[in-house]
Amino acid sequence: MLKGAKVGLRARYEDDIEVLRTELYDDVVNGSRAEGRPWRPMTPDSKDPRLVVDDKAQGLVQFSAVELDGETLIGMATLYDIDTHHRSAHIGLGLLPSCRGMGYGTDVVAVLTHYGFVVRGLHRLQIETLADNAAMLRAAERNGFVREGVLRSSSWVMGEFLDEVVLGLLAEDWNPNH
Ligand SMILES: CC(C)(COP(=O)(O)OP(=O)(O)OC[C@H]1O[C@@H](n2cnc3c(N)ncnc32)[C@H](O)[C@@H]1OP(=O)(O)O)[C@@H](O)C(=O)NCCC(=O)NCCS
Repeated sequence: MLKGAKVGLRARYEDDIEVLRTELYDDVVNGSRAEGRPWRPMTPDSKDPRLVVDDKAQGLVQFSAVELDGETLIGMATLYDIDTHHRSAHIGLGLLPSCRGMGYGTDVVAVLTHYGFVVRGLHRLQIETLADNAAMLRAAERNGFVREGVLRSSSWVMGEFLDEVVLGLLAEDWNPNH
């Protein structure tokens, strides 16, 4: 398990799947805002790749996020679009509603950043989020990510176009003690 100050990132366990499906992926608003594609309902035994992890998948590493203290599940975290030529990847995360606003998201970004730069030897990490997602923007910036641009009206979300913000962090600019 990868450990931060408050959270651990570990493999997906069977018991995580039902919790993530009902609390994260069944939520139409969260799904529409976080997924970048239309929300669809998931059947209870769904083998959706967001839930059932393929350990051999290239270019993608999916974690379950847990509290360090007690190892209760708090959400999911992903390093995706891992490009070994350009040595870059993207970061994604989603916390269960009851686990938001307690500093876990900031720590999940810190742990994923450590995984990307130290474990995987990447050079650049990127986060895209809706421009109104104050918590995600702050969690990224607290870890040294800088805003690189705005993709105007790039996301169709629940009946309206919203802007997306692109944030990036380079390995040489990373301060793990942030
Ligand atoms: C976005 C998300 C991962 C952030 O994680 P979090 O644990 O809630 O955020 P944190 O508690 O680490 O807070 C980060 C910062 O945002 C602030 N913040 C938290 N919730 C906030 C809110 N609702 N509005 C404004 N600011 C907020 C915190 O005060 C903190 O700022 P600080 O460092 O100055 O104190 C989490 O809220 C989440 O999973 N949301 C739903 C899914 C999602 O949006 N995923 C990201 C898709 S790109």
